[in-house]
Amino acid sequence: MFGAGRIAEVHARSVAATEEVELAYVIDVDESRAQTLAQRYGAKVGSQDQVLNDVSVGAVIIASPTSTHADLVEVSARAGKAIFCEKPIDLNLDRVKQCLKTVREHGVLFALGFMRRFDPTYRDLYVRLRAGEIGEIEQISIVNRDLSPPHLDFIGTSGGMVRDLTSHDLDLARWLLGEEIHSVYAVGSCLIDPEIGKRGDIDSLQASLTTASGKLVQISESRRSAYGYDQRIEVMGSHGTLQAANKLQSLVVHGGSAGATQARPVSWFLERYADAYKAQLQDFAEAVRTERAPLVGAADGLRAVELTEAALKSMRTGSHVIVDEAD
Ligand SMILES: NC(=O)c1ccc[n+]([C@@H]2O[C@H](COP(=O)([O-])OP(=O)(O)OC[C@H]3O[C@@H](n4cnc5c(N)ncnc54)[C@H](O)[C@@H]3O)[C@@H](O)[C@H]2O)c1
Repeated sequence: MFGAGRIAEVHARSVAATEEVELAYVIDVDESRAQTLAQRYGAKVGSQDQVLNDVSVGAVIIASPTSTHADLVEVSARAGKAIFCEKPIDLNLDRVKQCLKTVREHGVLFALGFMRRFDPTYRDLYVRLRAGEIGEIEQISIVNRDLSPPHLDFIGTSGGMVRDLTSHDLDLARWLLGEEIHSVYAVGSCLIDPEIGKRGDIDSLQASLTTASGKLVQISESRRSAYGYDQRIEVMGSHGTLQAANKLQSLVVHGGSAGATQARPVSWFLERYADAYKAQLQDFAEAVRTERAPLVGAADGLRAVELTEAALKSMRTGSHVIVDEAD
């Protein structure tokens, strides 16, 4: 495991819950962090060379900051390790392409951390869409609202809201549609915290996507939601709709003279997507063991960066951007 921070802890927990997989080493530039995580999960603190030269290590999990991903992917590919990499692969499209070329040349398995595709509710939605339960998909609406904005330091390292947050929804959209996104129109504003704007980022976004066959997707995102972590999807098809509702803190509904109330949604992504993170790691482990492709791979990682770059270009220019002409 490269990294011993917030998301590394989640992956370490998932490794511990996965049969036939063991966390061997934790590597972090902050050795005390590495030590804490390694101790908690029965692993050793290691160095990059030690891990990459250890033939008993079949796979690496890259959970360090985004700026380190591409280099770590390349050294791991050269060492012949299967790779699970957190999103995004890199903030620069050319660097992503170069890095994935190295992965291809070394023929190693590569999985990317778009965990939302493994969420049981979204998987159910996906399976029912593919089964034709609502006929032909016509429109998708995705609502993605964080409870509160991230720490201001995170804005610089993450590359901003579109690369950090919107990338998840762009990936979900093309996965649920079963079709590629052809054009993107995105607008962003800073409505919540002017400090975010001073750092050149946005905290509120609306995006409209179209496929070549004319299917439409609307993405609505905010870094703040006064009523809890709001994660909803509605798909409208020729025969009906399917809706993925929020995960609530409790399913108890109170009825009184003023009407009915129910609990708020769970507070944040680690709780909402806990099952998804576990299933994602299990998919990676099974893919390595059985030498099959992981459910989310290199092509998905590349497309996500192409789509985020198209959305950013649309915000800059105020026009629709044809994705494959966005460079
Ligand atoms: N898929 C998701 O839901 C999701 C959620 C959160 C974060 N992420 C991604 O995970 C990555 C890490 O995010 P985080 O929130 O855990 O960050 P974090 O700051 O909590 O942890 C990063 C850790 O990596 C360490 N580190 C820095 N440089 C390193 C290097 N060269 N080698 C090894 N370790 C190094 C840091 O010391 C820190 O302990 C980011 O790329 C982020 O985009 C994905």
